[in-house]
Amino acid sequence: MVRSVRHQMLAQPTADEAARQGFIVAFKQALNRGLRSSQQPLFDQVVAPRYHAEHGSIPQTREQIRSAMQADPAYRSWSSLSRAAQEQMWVAIGDSVFRDRDRLARTAAQLANAPDRKGSLHLDPNFTPPRGVTAVDIHLQTGGYAMDLGDGDCSAGALYEMGGNLYAFGQGLSRNDSKAAHVQRFINEKFPELNPRQILDMGCSAGSASVPYALEFPDAEVHAIDVGAGMLRYAHARAEALGAAVHFHQMDVGHTTFDDESFDLIVSHNLMHEISGVTRRNMLRESRRLLRPGGVCVHQDVPLRFAGLSEFKKFELSWDTLNNNEPFWEVYANGDLQPELLAAGFDPACIHVGSLPAREGSLPWFVACAWRP
Ligand SMILES: C[S@@+](CC[C@H](N)C(=O)[O-])C[C@H]1O[C@@H](n2cnc3c(N)ncnc32)[C@H](O)[C@@H]1O
Repeated sequence: MVRSVRHQMLAQPTADEAARQGFIVAFKQALNRGLRSSQQPLFDQVVAPRYHAEHGSIPQTREQIRSAMQADPAYRSWSSLSRAAQEQMWVAIGDSVFRDRDRLARTAAQLANAPDRKGSLHLDPNFTPPRGVTAVDIHLQTGGYAMDLGDGDCSAGALYEMGGNLYAFGQGLSRNDSKAAHVQRFINEKFPELNPRQILDMGCSAGSASVPYALEFPDAEVHAIDVGAGMLRYAHARAEALGAAVHFHQMDVGHTTFDDESFDLIVSHNLMHEISGVTRRNMLRESRRLLRPGGVCVHQDVPLRFAGLSEFKKFELSWDTLNNNEPFWEVYANGDLQPELLAAGFDPACIHVGSLPAREGSLPWFVACAWRP
């Protein structure tokens, strides 16, 4: 299944809105592909020599590099334009989503109540989304992941799906890049005998990775969890619109209410870089608790590892922490998943941590995988 799949729950941009969104994608691509690559030469040829002339040495630590780069007008311009482009992207998406909000809520209610519905939605009125999600609007998404405007509101999910597509195209990722398809290929190659009956997708957002599991394993029962009601209403309606049976629940990935050994396959997609170290370790422990003997968990994420990188590279990659509301970006980049899977109770012989080869214009996605014999 491709990233930009069409369905009834997508917000419908007007021609003007689509034109503005298209401009922002092109602008982000120019900033990411073109100008970002000029930062190392700018540092080597201009910023470091200037710093040396003033201080008698070149900047060594990330903080020295940051303060030297931030003093440079070319870097400052790139950085402020990048932040502004991200803000503008969400404003432009919000124009479509909030204008289309009532239709989305009505369509979601129809899909959720249709007599031939396949999945289900379980919201918990007593659930309080964790502070890691509510304290900041992660990657500047308007209202944040947990936004719920009441009355069947689906805006958080609609924003997330539209934003995810534009964000990815702005980074230069292909329309054909489906993270779930990459993980499914990995599972088929590494565990050809696995025939899951119960599957769990953790941190599902709009469910764009959950649906491919329901379609790939039609005999399995697929469950998906996230924290926000607005996100989950959208995810459920979207899955119904695509004819996929997925059961969505409002739960914390670190403390679910499923029974021990409920699942044969547990996955997460791009979740780890958006949760704290404590939540990640709880999530791995929960994966171990919920897996049946013979079961497999695969936690996929961006290939962002700080080990072995130069201080300059770390400075470049930490732009998102400071400017794109990604509080856990570096927590994830500095994490070591092998010992964490061991600490979660997995056998050392049943752990695979590494990258998936880049295919079809994707990133070389990172996976932390473990299984029960
Ligand atoms: C980057 S998105 C995941 C993308 C999604 N898996 C996909 O493939 O499209 C991260 C999601 O994790 C959710 N999340 C963050 N902390 C969580 C927690 N403690 N429990 C459950 N979900 C959480 C957020 O609400 C958000 O929807």
